Amino acid sequence: MCGIIGIISTQEVSSRIVNSLKKLEYRGYDSAGIATLVDGNINEVKCEGRVDVLERDISKFNLKGDIGIGHVRWATHGKPSKINAHPHSSEQVSVVHNGIIENSTILKKLLEKKGYVFKSQTDTEVIAHLVTDYLKKNSLKNTIIKVLKKLHGSFALGIIFKDQNDLMVGAKRGSPLAVGYGPNENYIGSDSYALKSMTNKISYLEDGEFCIVKKDQIEFFDNVGSHINKKVLNLSKNEIDYDKGDYKYFMEKEIDEQPSTISDCINEYIDKYNNQVNILNFPWKTSSIKSVMLIGCGTAFHSCLIAKYWMEQSTNLDVSVDIASEFRYRKVRFKKDCLYIFVSQSGETADTYAALDLCKKNKVKTCAVVNVVESSIARNADLVLPIHCGQEIGVASTKAFMGQMLVLYILSLKISFDQKSITREEYKHKVENLLSLSNSAKKTLKVDQKILNIAKVFAEAKGSMFLGRGYSFPIALEGALKLKELAYVHAEGYPAGEMKHGPLALIEEGMPVVVLAPRDEHYKKTISNMQEVIARGAKVLLITNKNKDEVISENIWEKIEVDQLDEDLIPFLITIPLQKLAFYSALKKGYDIDKPRNLAKSVTVE
Ligand code: AGP
Repeated sequence: MCGIIGIISTQEVSSRIVNSLKKLEYRGYDSAGIATLVDGNINEVKCEGRVDVLERDISKFNLKGDIGIGHVRWATHGKPSKINAHPHSSEQVSVVHNGIIENSTILKKLLEKKGYVFKSQTDTEVIAHLVTDYLKKNSLKNTIIKVLKKLHGSFALGIIFKDQNDLMVGAKRGSPLAVGYGPNENYIGSDSYALKSMTNKISYLEDGEFCIVKKDQIEFFDNVGSHINKKVLNLSKNEIDYDKGDYKYFMEKEIDEQPSTISDCINEYIDKYNNQVNILNFPWKTSSIKSVMLIGCGTAFHSCLIAKYWMEQSTNLDVSVDIASEFRYRKVRFKKDCLYIFVSQSGETADTYAALDLCKKNKVKTCAVVNVVESSIARNADLVLPIHCGQEIGVASTKAFMGQMLVLYILSLKISFDQKSITREEYKHKVENLLSLSNSAKKTLKVDQKILNIAKVFAEAKGSMFLGRGYSFPIALEGALKLKELAYVHAEGYPAGEMKHGPLALIEEGMPVVVLAPRDEHYKKTISNMQEVIARGAKVLLITNKNKDEVISENIWEKIEVDQLDEDLIPFLITIPLQKLAFYSALKKGYDIDKPRNLAKSVTVE
C-alpha cells in the first residue's frame, strides 16, 4: 500500500529517490518523505500530499547525501499529514515502512516508559525507537534480528543509521521488498517498477529475511542471522518506460489498450494454426482436478465470479469462488483434487497472498493469474498464468480485468477439452471465436459520445444500480465498483432477478440504472426486470448486443449495442461501456482519475 525506495551510492541520491517515488505514487499518495545521511546527521524532508510537493520542499533544503530512503504513504495508522509521513527518525536511525505493526501500541507504551518521545500517531515510529533502544546493547545485525522478532504484523522496511555511513538495511515480512544491483551503488524498493530505471538486476526478500546493503556488497540473512544466497533476476529490459502517450490519464489509455492487450494475451495462449489452447507448463494431469476454488479481491474477485459461470457451463468441475479476505479465515476443507486459483493484477495483495500461503501450507495445487510475473503471489504459486497486459498504472483496474477474464476463459477451455466435456468441434469453434474478440472490443470502444451524454446524470446521482443475470451479473458488480471508486457515487451491482426481493424499494424517479441484457437465455426475463424499474421512474441505460430481430421496448433512456458474439464472450464487450461510464462520470466531477481518493493500486496491508 505504500512505496519504499532506498539508494546507497558514490554520488548524491535525493533526486533519484524523488524520481523513484514518482513511479511509486500508484502505491499510495497521501503523503511523502525522504531522509539522507550527511556527515553523520540524518536530514529528513516530509510533506502531506504528492511527491511534487516534496520535490519543491527539497529544493529549499538542497538535500545532500549518498545514502537515502524515501516513502510514499497510504495511511493506515494516523491521518495523512506531514508529521505522520515517513521516514520516521530517532536520534540514531530513520525508517520507512510498508505494512502494519499489530503490536505497536504495546511497544510504544514500553518505549515511552524508557523515555522515548513520540512525535507521530504512526505504528512505524515505534520501529525507529525500538532499533535505537536495541542498538545501545547490541551489534547492528543482532539489533535487527531482535527487533524483527519483537514486531507482530507485516512490514517491508528500509533503515539508515546515523553512525553507519556505509550501509542501509532492508527487511521483509508480508509486504514486498526488492533489492537492486547497480554500478558502485545498490537499492531497495517496494517493487521492481521503482528500480527499473536504475537496474534490471533484482533479488526479492522472502518473509523473515533481512539484508545489509552497501555500495559494493549486499548480504542477505534469514530470521536468525544466518547468511543466505539470493537469486539475481534479470528483468526484461524491453519493458518500455510506460507513459501516458497522447492521453491525459493512464486509465483512459488502459481502457483503449484493451483490444491490443486482448490480442497479446491470446497470442500467448492460443495456437492459431492448430486452433488450440497452449498452456505449456500445466504441471498436473487435468483428470486429477475435480474441483476449482477461485480467490481474489475487488475487481479480481469479479473475474473469479465470471469464471465460475464459464467453468460450470463447459467443464465437469465443481467451482467455488471466495473473496480472499474471507477465505483466509474460513475453516477450509482442503482437497488434493482441487485447484486453488489466485487472481491478482499486482500479485501483492496481502489478503490474496495470505490465502495462497494458507493453501501452500496445506500442500494443495495452486495457480496464480497475475499481471506482475515477479510478484510475491507469482513466485509462490505452483503454476503462473500471466495476463500479459503490460503495466497497469490506473488504480481502477480495467485492462487487467479483461486479461484476468481472458486467461480464466482460456483455462476453462483447456480443461473442458482435456476432460472431453465439450466436443472437439465446440472447442475449435470457441477458440476460433476468441480470435475475433479483439476486433469486437475495438468497435465497442466507440461508445464515447453516447456515454458522455449520460455520464453527468450518473455523476450527480444519489445512487445507481447495475443489473444483470448469468454471465452479466459479475459484470454488473464490476460496473458498480468502477463507478464507486472513480466518481465516488454509491452504486450497487445486483442480480436482476433479485430486485423484487427488496432493492426495488431503492428505485425512485430519475435514478440511473444500467441493465445488462445481451440476447442470451436470460434476455427476456432481464427485460421484464428492466420494465419493473422503468415503471418506477428509473432512467435505464440498456447494454445489449446487436440483433436484427428483436425490438426492444420503448421508454429506454439510452441503449448501447455491442457486437453479436457467442454469449460466453459478451461479458468482455459489455464491460467496456461500464469502464467508460465510470471514467466520464469521474471526469465530469473533476476527480483524479488515476489516483482516486482513499485507494491505492496494490493493497499490501490486510
Ligand atoms: C480495481 O479497480 C480495484 N482498484 C481493486 O478492487 C483491485 O482489483 C483489488 O484491490 C485487487 O488488486 P489485485 O488485482 O492487484 O490483487
